[in-house]
Amino acid sequence: MSVFMRRATVADLERIMVLERATFEADAWPEDAMRREIESEHGYYLVAVDDRLEAARDAAADGGTEGTDGTGGTEAAADSAAGLLGYAGLLAPAGGGQGDVQTIAVAPSTRGIGLGRALMHALITEARRRHVAEIFLEVRADNPIARALYDSLGFEQIGVRPRYYRGGIDAVHMRLTVPPAVTRPADAGPPSSTASATRRAHGADLGTGATP
Ligand SMILES: CC(C)(COP(=O)(O)OP(=O)(O)OC[C@H]1O[C@@H](n2cnc3c(N)ncnc32)[C@H](O)[C@@H]1OP(=O)(O)O)[C@@H](O)C(=O)NCCC(=O)NCCS
Repeated sequence: MSVFMRRATVADLERIMVLERATFEADAWPEDAMRREIESEHGYYLVAVDDRLEAARDAAADGGTEGTDGTGGTEAAADSAAGLLGYAGLLAPAGGGQGDVQTIAVAPSTRGIGLGRALMHALITEARRRHVAEIFLEVRADNPIARALYDSLGFEQIGVRPRYYRGGIDAVHMRLTVPPAVTRPADAGPPSSTASATRRAHGADLGTGATP
């Protein structure tokens, strides 16, 4: 599998909704709301896709009858619909100085390999580009994995909204003061350990500077 991230378009809406509904179930956004988010000039939505399946999908969309793997066009398109590995969205009106992480989800089969972190780093980088000073988000109190991710990126808890979600689950309101981009000299040399390589992959190389 080869993963890459790009801006989401309405052409991605259908498969985003498949993952959205599977992930958030009763709390899933309506399709209309998701469409507005993706199309909004103030939004920044990304999808992470499987490169190989994306190529097959493009070939099918171009009117070919066969995918790159020799399957029929419809089959290739269906394959590539399953090739959505994750998505994430930021809302940050120009000049507003503040942004919100609207959503993030990674397909269950590709969780735990760094995709969620990469998507978050990309949103933070875009926020910095838009001169956003603070990013806010809400997370279910009973979601330790997402909370660990946000904690590690430097988000701090600033409040709790009692029984905000269905089932009476509290929402934890968090804020990140967008850190400056980290740069390092071109001749900084190779990493001294695997750990430092991992830190760079998660942090400075993606331009967020959010990882210590
Ligand atoms: C939250 C989510 C987006 C994280 O994506 P991911 O690709 O699995 O996360 P990553 O592999 O990038 O891991 C990022 C961090 O999350 C935490 N994490 C990931 N998997 C974890 C696990 N199984 N247990 C505990 N913490 C975990 C860790 O802090 C991890 O950092 P580390 O690898 O340096 O330890 C993903 O689990 C998901 O889609 N969950 C369902 C939707 C959701 O909860 N969205 C958030 C709504 S606010």
